[in-house]
Amino acid sequence: MNAASDSERPEGEPVSLWVATAGTTDYPALRGDIDVDVAVVGAGIAGLTAALALKRTGHTVAVIETARVGTGVTGHTTGKVTSLHRLAYTELERSHGADTARTYGQANQAAIEHIAHVVAEEGIDCGFRRVATYTYAETDDAVARVREEAALAARLGLPATFTTDVPLPFAVKGAVRFDGQAQIHTVKYLQGLAQAVNGGGSFVFEGTRAQRIRDGSPGAVDTGSGTVRARDIIVATNVPFGGQGLFYLRCHPHRSYLVAGRVDTPPLDATFISAEEPLRSILTASVGGTSYVLTGGEGHRVSEAGDTAGRYRRLAAFAHDRLGVVEIAYRWSTQDGIPLDGLPYVGRMSPAAKHVYVITGLRKWGLSNGTAAALILADTLSGRENRWAPVFNSNRTTPAASARRFIKENTKTAAAILAGKLSGLPSHAALAPGEGAVIKVNGESTAVYKDADGRVHAVSAICTHLGCTVGFNPSDTTWDCPCHGSRFATDGTVIQGPAAKNLPPRPVP
Ligand SMILES: Cc1cc2nc3c(=O)[nH]c(=O)nc-3n(C[C@H](O)[C@H](O)[C@H](O)COP(=O)(O)OP(=O)(O)OC[C@H]3O[C@@H](n4cnc5c(N)ncnc54)[C@H](O)[C@@H]3O)c2cc1C
Ligand code: FES
Repeated sequence: MNAASDSERPEGEPVSLWVATAGTTDYPALRGDIDVDVAVVGAGIAGLTAALALKRTGHTVAVIETARVGTGVTGHTTGKVTSLHRLAYTELERSHGADTARTYGQANQAAIEHIAHVVAEEGIDCGFRRVATYTYAETDDAVARVREEAALAARLGLPATFTTDVPLPFAVKGAVRFDGQAQIHTVKYLQGLAQAVNGGGSFVFEGTRAQRIRDGSPGAVDTGSGTVRARDIIVATNVPFGGQGLFYLRCHPHRSYLVAGRVDTPPLDATFISAEEPLRSILTASVGGTSYVLTGGEGHRVSEAGDTAGRYRRLAAFAHDRLGVVEIAYRWSTQDGIPLDGLPYVGRMSPAAKHVYVITGLRKWGLSNGTAAALILADTLSGRENRWAPVFNSNRTTPAASARRFIKENTKTAAAILAGKLSGLPSHAALAPGEGAVIKVNGESTAVYKDADGRVHAVSAICTHLGCTVGFNPSDTTWDCPCHGSRFATDGTVIQGPAAKNLPPRPVP
């Protein structure tokens, strides 16, 4: 059984700072059938950026969002808009060569400037701020790697320097510093994008789940309440839902945790990430007149969640001890797809696809990678060449190193599937309020949760993607699938794919 008693529960309200402080949108659900040039599924940074870029070049677009604008991964991010992705250039140069690393950097730098322009042109009030970004090192070994990253990034033409002058409230040995980077309130930014997209023959639909994609001329996105017919379709649902493109085999979902704590000091003009483990990511922001420090980290493969309350507690301890946080106000977790070879997948859904495109594998740096990806597709669908497209190509052949990683990652997933199938489940469980457990009811694996009012909710424990057994996540009160990262609410509703269908209800035991 997985549960968290009140005394064990981590500090802070279990909601993202960005979602909690943005207010909500109220776009209608799709009712009936419509025709547009481009249908975009998913109102995260990738989908909405693509939609606006396409609208600005004369296309009509319809964005279809199952929940509300910005409530997906983008609403649960740290908020850094940067081309400094920890030590990415060293890794990319090693695995793909300097040209690819340079293109990746250029695409991400251009994404920062794109966001800056959109914020200015659309007048989006989203706390956009220019900051410097640092990857800092506390040990001699890490400082050498940081120095190497700075030199390489500078050679690639990026705004990089090595420095020992790092504006953190604790001592570090050095850092790579990128100038001219940024940070945003992500949900407010997406709400601004949605507002700019909606109208003039283009639409944003909320509360509308895409259930099926049909390629063709025109193609179609079928939802429960109508169909969007379109010349082209972009699937920007973070991970494509269902089995489209088999991307759940080419990316593995990696989850991380964040806490946002109140501080008495104004925000710094800088964001940070550690070079060594345990990874710590730091951003400061003023939201509604209150100063916050966000601390992120404790990342893991979705199948290796372990003690999630302990993960929040370790982040909170770091925030209190090293960053002067007075009180943790919010805590949350989310996950993103890590591509096998370190590069996002952007382009046609499969080699055979004609009008269906995908953006996925944003490697936990999707504010910039997702923006760059959206601009690639906006060019592609407008018949313009894009010089970053070959590097991000969704149908690229996998180099040998990635093939080895493919086998390793999928062996781990197969082990998780098998563990779910073989585990003996109890036939009953005494649940306290807030607790959940997977038990056998009439021979079926059933996910049973008792809410704070003592009401029991029962849904199938078999993930609707490929049949793994879900587990209860007591810190976030969700049912999580260990295989490819689908997450479900306690009533069985899909929160995050690749699962496309809800967990069906089961009789309450
Ligand atoms: C803990 C953490 C911190 C991060 N911090 C940063 C950071 O500081 N900077 C950075 O650049 N990146 C960061 N990232 C990565 C970044 O947040 C993501 O890469 C990015 O937000 C993904 O955007 P997206 O548009 O692909 O997905 P989403 O924002 O999830 O958008 C997809 C949307 O599709 C909707 N959807 C799903 N299925 C359907 C369907 N069938 N029909 C209709 N709608 C559907 C979802 O509801 C969702 O709103 C972080 C990631 C993690 C995990
Ligand atoms: S996410 Fe693939 S089986 Fe659950």
